[in-house]
Amino acid sequence: MITFIGAGPGDPELITVKGQKAVRNADVIIYAGSLVPVAVIEDRKPGAEVYNSATMDLEEIISVMKTAHEQGKNVARVHTGDPSIYGSIREQIEELDKLKIPHTVIPGVSSFVASAAALQREFTVPGISQTVICTRMEGRTPVPELEKIELLASHKTSMAIFLTIGMIDKLVEKLTIHYPVTTPIAVVQRASWPDQKIVTGCLNDIAAKIKEADITKTAMILVGDFLGDNFENSLLYASHFTHEYRKGK
Ligand SMILES: C[S@@+](CC[C@H](N)C(=O)[O-])C[C@H]1O[C@@H](n2cnc3c(N)ncnc32)[C@H](O)[C@@H]1O
Repeated sequence: MITFIGAGPGDPELITVKGQKAVRNADVIIYAGSLVPVAVIEDRKPGAEVYNSATMDLEEIISVMKTAHEQGKNVARVHTGDPSIYGSIREQIEELDKLKIPHTVIPGVSSFVASAAALQREFTVPGISQTVICTRMEGRTPVPELEKIELLASHKTSMAIFLTIGMIDKLVEKLTIHYPVTTPIAVVQRASWPDQKIVTGCLNDIAAKIKEADITKTAMILVGDFLGDNFENSLLYASHFTHEYRKGK
């Protein structure tokens, strides 16, 4: 069995209990060493084989999985954050299906929610935004025409932008086609790691602040009025509001 596991954003305590059990159970561990700290896989079986996928290509990864499976071994494939977001698990699953090797996925805490937690903010504050868009800006990896950042920005909703910090000037240029330049924006580098850095500002000053803070990679960009000070309370806890579990006063 191959178990894809979301390791969480960095803090080794942010892996799920189920994910941690699967790591403890594994005979072979393949972990994304560029973003997953070794501490996440420290609590493993004595003698478990460990591979760092940062230096491997797809063929090598599948070959390790195939050999392990043939030997009746359990494999933990440890991805950063949640594997469903920029995790490149789809191509691994396709190859495993061709080989008829069983697999399962254990979700993890994505870096976009860990960043919101670091800022103690809610993406979906009533009266401001009820939608969060997770995306990236086109760089070396193209994005579909209808997902160009300026089109997504036209909704002026809460956005979590991955893999884009190195293009902050261009990003701001595209976002400000729709968002006012005073819209709040926050950058969280290495959310939940001991060296986590947070920079907050507005669209018109964030690029300079990011350069000053020397943030060039492993950063989440959050933008939208949900980061501001205005919001309405939710109906869920409003005293007059009746729902399945509580009668309004
Ligand atoms: C290949 S993607 C993987 C995303 C991952 N699957 C997730 O759910 O967070 C890597 C990008 O995620 C973001 N990222 C990953 N870990 C992060 C962290 N601890 N803090 C901030 N951003 C992070 C950065 O934008 C980074 O460039």
